[in-house]
Amino acid sequence: MSVEREKRIAAEAAAELVGSGMTVGLGTGSTVAYLLPALARRELSIRCVATSPRTEQAARELGIQVEPFGGFDRLDIAIDGADQIAPDGWLVKGGGAAHTREKIVAAAADRFVVIADSSKPVDALRPPVPLELLEYGLATTLRRLADVRRRDVPRSPDGGVIADYHGDIGDPVRLAADLAGAPGLVEHGLFPPDLVATILVGRGDSVERRD
Ligand code: A5P
Repeated sequence: MSVEREKRIAAEAAAELVGSGMTVGLGTGSTVAYLLPALARRELSIRCVATSPRTEQAARELGIQVEPFGGFDRLDIAIDGADQIAPDGWLVKGGGAAHTREKIVAAAADRFVVIADSSKPVDALRPPVPLELLEYGLATTLRRLADVRRRDVPRSPDGGVIADYHGDIGDPVRLAADLAGAPGLVEHGLFPPDLVATILVGRGDSVERRD
């Protein structure tokens, strides 16, 4: 069964969790690309925020109402993909360079739903872990951070420099705390289990759900 089909059925299952009147955070990536048409087909009355210009444009083209995030102090639900899903619920995100916005949107939502194909659950998280860095003082930030290399990609949606941590992950609690405390580091792509309410993984013809 193809990975694309698994992404689609996970995304369609997530679209069913959205009800009329809800405020919805839309993630970024190839799995979210299947969520948008599934949501549009439901013709719900919803108000959305997008985690990237790419998602915003795709949603608008499908007739989904996207508003600036500044108009919301919370969201009912956010739905997004992941690069890796650990058995204990830790995620690695940011392959698409939008993890800072994605974490803000996930944290703002009463319910954060992760959608993925069957290649994303892993036995243990492995590097790289995406990072967003401030341009200001970049050379010193990169010198201080061990095992970090700047990624050769465009900036984050907010103009941040994208880099990756390639060292050992070990205990993600500790690594997340170390990274969060580094001056010049805007956000890292480790998402803790307490941020995640539901995980929907397409596997073959069916969707596995973890709450
Ligand atoms: C975007 O910055 C990422 O966090 C994506 O959400 C993540 O990489 C999953 O993307 P795919 O759905 O394309 O695998």
